[in-house]
Amino acid sequence: MAKSPANRQGRKAAVAEPVGDFFNSEETKRRLNATPMPSGKRRRSDEPAPASPASPVSPEKWAPHLRRAASETDANGVIKTTNAVVTCCSPKSPMKRLFAGLSQKNRWNPRDPGQMNAVKEAFHVSSPPATIVCRDSEQMRIFEFCKTCIEQETGGSLYVCGCPGTGKTLSMERVKELLGAWTKEVGFQFPVTLSISCNSLTTTSEIFLKILEKCHLKKVNGASSPLQHLRDSFSQRKEPICERAVLVIMDELDYLITKDRAVLHDLFMLTTYPFSRFILIGIANAIDLADRFLPKLESLNCKPMVVTFRAYNKDQILKILQHRIMAIGYDVFEPLALEFCARKVAAASGDMRRALSVCLSAIEKFETELKCDTTGSKIEMVSFDHMDNALSKAFRAPVVDTIQSLPQHQQIILCALVRLLRSRKTSTVGDLNKSYLEVCRSAQVTAAGMMEFSSMCRVLTDQGLVKLGNSREEKLRTVALAIDGADVAFSLKGIRFFRHCLE
Ligand SMILES: Nc1ncnc2c1ncn2[C@@H]1O[C@H](COP(=O)(O)OP(=O)(O)OP(=O)(O)O)[C@@H](O)[C@H]1O
Ligand SMILES: [Mg+2]
Repeated sequence: MAKSPANRQGRKAAVAEPVGDFFNSEETKRRLNATPMPSGKRRRSDEPAPASPASPVSPEKWAPHLRRAASETDANGVIKTTNAVVTCCSPKSPMKRLFAGLSQKNRWNPRDPGQMNAVKEAFHVSSPPATIVCRDSEQMRIFEFCKTCIEQETGGSLYVCGCPGTGKTLSMERVKELLGAWTKEVGFQFPVTLSISCNSLTTTSEIFLKILEKCHLKKVNGASSPLQHLRDSFSQRKEPICERAVLVIMDELDYLITKDRAVLHDLFMLTTYPFSRFILIGIANAIDLADRFLPKLESLNCKPMVVTFRAYNKDQILKILQHRIMAIGYDVFEPLALEFCARKVAAASGDMRRALSVCLSAIEKFETELKCDTTGSKIEMVSFDHMDNALSKAFRAPVVDTIQSLPQHQQIILCALVRLLRSRKTSTVGDLNKSYLEVCRSAQVTAAGMMEFSSMCRVLTDQGLVKLGNSREEKLRTVALAIDGADVAFSLKGIRFFRHCLE
């Protein structure tokens, strides 16, 4: 039995108590006030309200990075750290900021293999950053949402969306750390936590069994399905599953959005049962979720709160790169080189993975040059030219030539696919055809018929540009890009029509 809307809306909104300097800042108050309620606020009438923490929780204890962000930034926006000074969001030019930021570093000896390897390792995409920057407000909103659910002993759902490489997965780890520190501090039990990538599920409904297993609950004598078992458990107060909050973080939710919406709806519905303490966080790229499946969830009375991770802009990319450099402690790049990378990547996609891989490739170019240098010349840093070279390689791979030499209609299909996949990872041939027809209409180009369109999709697949899934019905086949969308944008940006189309 799901909670009635009246019940759910009638509950008092929980607002975190602002404590300490950080929480008293205007910005933080604004953020806290803006945090919407998780679904289904409930205090059981026959139970005492959980004791509020005897002493206020000091935020620096469980959100040290947040406090650092506040306290170590001076009036000019300069972040001061123990071994270096890095500027951020300063009114100065990025160049000046960068020079100021890097001025107190150790000298890098790129000829030392140990130092060179450490630098390359630091810029590897799989190396976790020492600090996550530029995502404080998103992390804060997610943390507050979980905190409210735990405090009020209720379920709730949250949808985290944003383009690739914008720090969604990374931020969840941070939120879990914050929750761990906070629950310890205030004496609440840490939720039973399951983090799962939906791509790893063999069948979509396997998720319910995984949740049961995580909660150490056994399926009841084969009679009820894992889903039914969860529903029953969340409907009865005495069930052990209701004793502790269950936090399920489902990454790559796009997979479920395109594969099995029924499972998705069942999952979100689990947050609404009368004694549910099920906290669901879904992460995906789809930004247009509101148009596509929120209305259905709303009608099921389980509309999630949404937190959007915007693509990084130039200054944010620069700042994240600077922090990596700070962690190594060497001057690795000429300041202009780094700024150039940030500008180019921000213009193409705002994807941090791309920025890191371009930096790594520039370091490797510099390393090769160093090895070939027999003159003993003083090349000491990765220069603007190395970066320029790496950027051209990244955005001008052979794939760029392939795309530029495609027939016009195949270029239109690619362009239509990039537009379609801005907000999700896969789509269907049917949807791609609609998007293609729209692009043709706006370009006043006569569109190809469905048969021809399908065969063009197959050609693009053979060229390694597109991935097509299997389905008996052509229109239901899944379709995805086999290359980076930024490469398509880069390849076609010289043609005004496509530039318009991809803006
Ligand atoms: N704010 C940040 N601070 C430091 N590093 C970051 C930040 N954002 C992203 N990165 C770097 O970029 C990588 C990719 O980030 P993450 O995996 O969180 O992206 P994502 O938004 O989950 O992407 P996708 O949608 O493709 O799953 C991280 O591993 C990290 O190295
Ligand atoms: Mg991710």
